[in-house]
Amino acid sequence: MLETVNVELGARSYEVRIGAGLIDHAHDHIAPLLRRPRVAVVTDDTVGPLHLERLRKGLGDIDMVSLTLPAGEATKSWPHLTRTVEWMLEQKVERKDIVVAFGGGVIGDLVGFAAAILRRGVRFVQIPTTLLAQVDSSVGGKTGINSTAGKNLIGAFHQPALVLADIDVLGTLTARDFRAGYGEVVKYGLLGSLPFFEWLEQNGPLAAAGGRDLRLEAVRRSVQMKADIVARDETEEGERALLNLGHTFGHALEAATSYSDRLLHGEGVAIGCVLAFELSQKLGLCAQETPGRVRAHLHAMGMKTDLGDIAGDLPDADGLIALMGQDKKVLDGKLQFILARGIGDAFVTADVPRDVLHQLLTEASGR
Ligand code: GLY
Repeated sequence: MLETVNVELGARSYEVRIGAGLIDHAHDHIAPLLRRPRVAVVTDDTVGPLHLERLRKGLGDIDMVSLTLPAGEATKSWPHLTRTVEWMLEQKVERKDIVVAFGGGVIGDLVGFAAAILRRGVRFVQIPTTLLAQVDSSVGGKTGINSTAGKNLIGAFHQPALVLADIDVLGTLTARDFRAGYGEVVKYGLLGSLPFFEWLEQNGPLAAAGGRDLRLEAVRRSVQMKADIVARDETEEGERALLNLGHTFGHALEAATSYSDRLLHGEGVAIGCVLAFELSQKLGLCAQETPGRVRAHLHAMGMKTDLGDIAGDLPDADGLIALMGQDKKVLDGKLQFILARGIGDAFVTADVPRDVLHQLLTEASGR
């Protein structure tokens, strides 16, 4: 059970290997990349207790040193970046060594950034342990930390040397974390592939219930779509921005809920996707019934779809628009939106009248 997706980036090309039990065979995957049999692994205190010993065994005669950081978004910060880089230096990680990011999106982004700046760049391997990290953040080389001014504002493009997505580790995710990651899976169908969305309508609930083959297929198709887009537009000059479908709304909602447990990133993306389709419909871009179809599938998956599904109070429409203005996709002072002509047909535009946006958010706040 092994699928491989190539991310074609010339000299920086790499493989994303997707399969069951890859961690148990980590030696076979990683040893060919090493000059000496030693890796520095960074994980967090959720993943470490569950899977680190399994990774150590899987690495066989490769010597493993490890650092365990606190789980959670707050770890994507200067203090933990400093700690990680200093630890790597203490461990005498050299230019030709490999660093391993073993965790979800937070660990992948932080460790990737540490690898980008350590000794002006060392190679790293991503072993993503959440659905969200497997289908999105571990692929494509975006690395970084958060600033008090916003999420992901400090970082670098630094492509991994290899990504190992072990489907088995998804079995230890909570149902809520799995569904949050699914927000990024459904995004791919919505932005670029009606057939994939239809496949998800058929198979998503079974994949969530634990279907291993279906999980593997959902990850493979998502990663293939991301790899194709990244190969065409590595540094987000154009098409890669489509991957931000649902994110302008989602980031504002995450900021409104103080990046807390009230709303996970993937949940914000899912609600954001519904809002993006509703906005598209209001602007006459997509058919009347399309937003309802998006919402129906997310409902079938047991996911949040509306502002009313978020516990506690939210800012009003003006407040949400102000938060959207802090998004890093603001260009020449104008908000960028990913809108859609239909499911699988998204595009980027800055051409959204404020009154339509305001009306959408006012109506959404009343639901
Ligand atoms: N997560 C969006 C991107 O990698 O471009």
